[in-house]
Amino acid sequence: MLGRATVGLLFLLLVWGNLVAGLKAGLACPDWPLCHGQILPPFRWDIYMEFLHRVIAGVTSVALVALAFRRYKRYDGAARAVPVLALFLLLAEVGMGGAVVLLETPVRLTTVHFMTGVMVFLLAFYMMIFDGERERPVFSLRGPAAVFFCLAALIYTQSALGAYVRHLDAGLACPDFPTCLGRWFPPFLDGSVLASYSHRVVGGLIFFTVLTLYLFIRRDARQRRNRSLALSLLALVVFQVAVGAVVVLSGLYFLATAVHLAVALGMLSVLAHLWANAVRAEGATLSLPPL
Ligand code: HEM
Repeated sequence: MLGRATVGLLFLLLVWGNLVAGLKAGLACPDWPLCHGQILPPFRWDIYMEFLHRVIAGVTSVALVALAFRRYKRYDGAARAVPVLALFLLLAEVGMGGAVVLLETPVRLTTVHFMTGVMVFLLAFYMMIFDGERERPVFSLRGPAAVFFCLAALIYTQSALGAYVRHLDAGLACPDFPTCLGRWFPPFLDGSVLASYSHRVVGGLIFFTVLTLYLFIRRDARQRRNRSLALSLLALVVFQVAVGAVVVLSGLYFLATAVHLAVALGMLSVLAHLWANAVRAEGATLSLPPL
């Protein structure tokens, strides 16, 4: 229950953060940790968007700390690194959140802030699946588990690249879709066009990888229990490419970018389940070694 609540809160926090940025309300509270020098700031919609972002972050942090402590008690050996790392990254995230406001959002820092947030989400997901009581914490990079893990790493990297494009203000560097600047291969590749075009190319790569994976899983009788998850992943990728197109053609409409992020988190969640299923199938011998 606590695991699910924490993962749900982290999802909300990340998507809310995206909405705040999309509405250009990120600096509506110019100070930190107070907002306009007060605990409860004066009412204005953009101030409250950013203020609520901080409130959700506070509640989520408390839930994550509680979850990490609980799992630390139940886990043993190297598995304890998961709650410890989650707490460490949470601290880094809070520190960076403050720096992002005080340093007026430098691009690299906001991208690392985003990547750290998604990593905390994935660690919380692990703690949700492996509660240490009904399910022992296990880890494996063998067989299908390695494939799912690598694909998750690719989607994580693609998300980081997307965040970089966003924070570089390069979302419309290729203003058309599916072509970029009227061509399949853009006429020039300066920083913004390169970032934006690479994000599309990796998106295409992810689509073909997931399609191939789905076709393999469908044919393999041993993967029967993963068929519906693989189909959901394929559907999410197709939807994600369509939402990516809407993001561009709508001129970065804030709701479209928020949905784009939510779908990316959905893809990572499905992959986390696929990976966990594959790890379970490997059996207990692959549990983490003691420290
Ligand atoms: C298929 C895999 C894809 C994934 C996992 C993905 C994920 C993401 C993520 C996580 C972001 C950053 C959100 C944030 O900072 O909060 C982003 C940004 C972006 N993505 Fe994708 N994306 C994918 C494919 C595409 C495609 C095919 C396009 C097509 C044009 C696209 C267009 C964009 C644009 C324009 C941005 C920047 C939006 C902005 O400036 O606000 N994405 N993507």
